[in-house]
Amino acid sequence: MFLNLRNSIDFFLRRKIHFSRINYTEKNENKADLGFSDFEVKQENYLLNKYNFEDYKNNSTVANYCQNLYILNLLDKYLFVNPKEKISILDIGSKNWYYVRSEYSYFRKYCTELQLDGVEIDAYRLYANFYNRLEVAKFYMKGLSGVNYISDDVRNINNTYDYIIWILPFVLIEPHRYWGLPDKYFNPHNLFKHAYSLLNSKGKMFIINQGEHELEAQKNIIKGLNFETLLIDNIFYQYKYNRYLSIIEKE
Ligand SMILES: C[S@@+](CC[C@H](N)C(=O)[O-])C[C@H]1O[C@@H](n2cnc3c(N)ncnc32)[C@H](O)[C@@H]1O
Repeated sequence: MFLNLRNSIDFFLRRKIHFSRINYTEKNENKADLGFSDFEVKQENYLLNKYNFEDYKNNSTVANYCQNLYILNLLDKYLFVNPKEKISILDIGSKNWYYVRSEYSYFRKYCTELQLDGVEIDAYRLYANFYNRLEVAKFYMKGLSGVNYISDDVRNINNTYDYIIWILPFVLIEPHRYWGLPDKYFNPHNLFKHAYSLLNSKGKMFIINQGEHELEAQKNIIKGLNFETLLIDNIFYQYKYNRYLSIIEKE
């Protein structure tokens, strides 16, 4: 009760005030020894060549590079894309969109024109260094054409998309509150229903959950649809909890 009241006030204020330092940047870090296994080195080289990712290797921090490799590897391994002239993608709950390069590089390979939208309800949440998520996202998105960061509730989005990527949706109330969102925004069934309605026919949704509790909650939300779920290998970046991938294909 008290946490919800505090979250509601803070959330209201940051959406009104939009406070942030500006021009967030990160410096490139040396990647001579990333501590990868032989398998990871082989896979890294394959991804660098296939998706022209070498430039990002030379212009990123170690952690951010590895997190992007992790997502790029998942997309490459599990999301099969039909090449076409224009592809539209929605990323839901983008936070600071630290992984936008992997999404961009992956989908850009399969089209000549790309529309990649990232929607985030809490874009003005501040980090300890006084940059907000939006400002950090601007840095990660720099130079990528067709990429838009939308500061809004996904329920206000009405475009349609060929692919939807949803990494760590809040399917349980505790993480939703812990991340500072008011309870009134917690309605995972309703959120999913709206997101699914934005998918074009034959479109695919790619959802990542962490831990077995979240996976069970997610399966309950998507039951009855055409989907498959698998445990993700920990490659390139070690996450604390098991992560699971669900791929839903719209009829
Ligand atoms: C656990 S975080 C995951 C962030 C990011 N995808 C990642 O992998 O680090 C969930 C994100 O979803 C956002 N979110 C929650 N409800 C939303 C909604 N209705 N519309 C848009 N974003 C939402 C939250 O503010 C939060 O940034």
